[in-house]
Amino acid sequence: MSIRTVSTQPFPDQKPGTSGLRKKVPTFRQPHYLENFVQSIFDSIAAPQGSTLVLGGDGRYYNRLAIQIILKMAAANGFGQVLVGRGGILSTPAASCVIRKYKTFGGIILSASHNPGGPDGDFGIKFNSSNGGPATETVTEAIYVKSKAISSYRILDTEDVMLDKLGETTLGGMKVKVFDPVSDYAELMESLFDFPAIRTLLKSGFKIKFDAMHAVNGPYAKELLEKRLGAPVGSVMNGVPLEDFGGGHPDPNLTYAHDLVEIMYGAEAPDFGAASDGDGDRNMILGKRFFVTPSDSLALLAANATLIPAYKQGLAGVARSMPTSAAVDRVAKALNIPCYETPTGWKFFGNLMDAGKVTLCGEESFGTGSNHVREKDGLWAVLFWLNILAVRKQSVESIVREHWARFGRNFYSRYDYEGLPTEAANGVIQHLRDNFPTLTNKQFGNHTVQTCDDFSYTDPVDGSISKGQGLRILFSDDSRIIFRLSGTGTEGATLRVYLEAYEADVSRHHLDAQEALKELIRVALDISELQSRTGRDQPTVIT
Ligand code: G1P
Ligand code: ZN
Repeated sequence: MSIRTVSTQPFPDQKPGTSGLRKKVPTFRQPHYLENFVQSIFDSIAAPQGSTLVLGGDGRYYNRLAIQIILKMAAANGFGQVLVGRGGILSTPAASCVIRKYKTFGGIILSASHNPGGPDGDFGIKFNSSNGGPATETVTEAIYVKSKAISSYRILDTEDVMLDKLGETTLGGMKVKVFDPVSDYAELMESLFDFPAIRTLLKSGFKIKFDAMHAVNGPYAKELLEKRLGAPVGSVMNGVPLEDFGGGHPDPNLTYAHDLVEIMYGAEAPDFGAASDGDGDRNMILGKRFFVTPSDSLALLAANATLIPAYKQGLAGVARSMPTSAAVDRVAKALNIPCYETPTGWKFFGNLMDAGKVTLCGEESFGTGSNHVREKDGLWAVLFWLNILAVRKQSVESIVREHWARFGRNFYSRYDYEGLPTEAANGVIQHLRDNFPTLTNKQFGNHTVQTCDDFSYTDPVDGSISKGQGLRILFSDDSRIIFRLSGTGTEGATLRVYLEAYEADVSRHHLDAQEALKELIRVALDISELQSRTGRDQPTVIT
């Protein structure tokens, strides 16, 4: 067994995006591609000799192979121990939980989240720091700089490690511990929520359906919902993780979680439905024939937090990403707690939570979480909802309607234009930016533009500045149109248009969001010249 130093050449495209490095599997399978990036991580994070690393992924195609490579590289780079989830499986929130619980130096998570998997699908890798959260922009930028100058990497020449049996082995001088990926996480969940109350609710005939979308959360959901909380077997559907997610797109929204949506809108609909994504950090919440937008869900969790054992003392503050609707801002105001507006991506919440400034945070993209870990957490959101339902004993729909009646409704929708030619997408952004001066104070139907800007964020904890985080057109009636380019796509460019309008009048709360936002959508298309510049007259996905 010897350490080999392999000569290599830099790849120019290893810049981490919104959440780590995401590329097509064939890109990752090029000789040295993964190795270069892993060595760049190790060279940037300066882990002391003998440090412990957590390792695992969402089980997608290439997960197992990547894990073997990373283990051998960790051994050759002086790590003392790696904790690997059995079978290479570890959901993103569980990875965060384990990093924190065992106070490790950090972890490497293999996932492309909600993107499809398989030999021609997507793969991804990211580093999480000792707080359990995604590396900050300073670290990801350092990794990118290293990747552009790399000339060699170190790897141990040795046999593969058995990943399917719990226990310890050694790799060179490094310990490899294969652990149960579910138990630490399940224990943490049980410490946060009132499990006896949820158990009673589920015994009373309250029916639930959870769609794991053949992704990583299957085993977690079965353990928590069926085993520990007593939901009937079968309450978890698509519960076996598959390398290609069964050919599906593991993104929990109304378009891709269609199996669940059909059930929840059907004649025999259960009382509560939920789904999570590829790596288990996203969530979608449904009532009987009723969809809860992620922005509303965040606001509602904040408003009801004191019903939950873990949050009964109240919240220090809340945070949302800039494109997320301002529904939670209204709750924060009523609770008299601070509300932070951050750029898109979970890495911006970490500092705020570490500094004790926020307890709950979320994004419009089906992500919600709290300071129990430093990632968004799909099953945590599901349990939070079940705990509220167990206490309030009302339907999902009536809880949401009561919330709107009290705080007003923030109608919200996101239009995604995927796979655009990069030039056309950049052209739309540039055109809008150029037109900021002419847009200000302009009236469109009932809406008057108050300001437009390119969102920039100064981290209140470390003072770091993140610029160019999305174009905001803000209207005087609290409605907003946001344009932003995705940082997670792997093909061409994805342009996202976020639309929001505030409505205080209860008599209009029953409106369909698309109906309520009709005029804003027209304005967005009009001022951006999106259709003529991209040749698309319909978005790929509307959420
Ligand atoms: C998307 C979401 C963003 C989320 C990220 C990772 O990023 O919009 O909210 O944090 O996935 O799950 P985007 O593709 O927009 O850069
Ligand atoms: Zn995800």
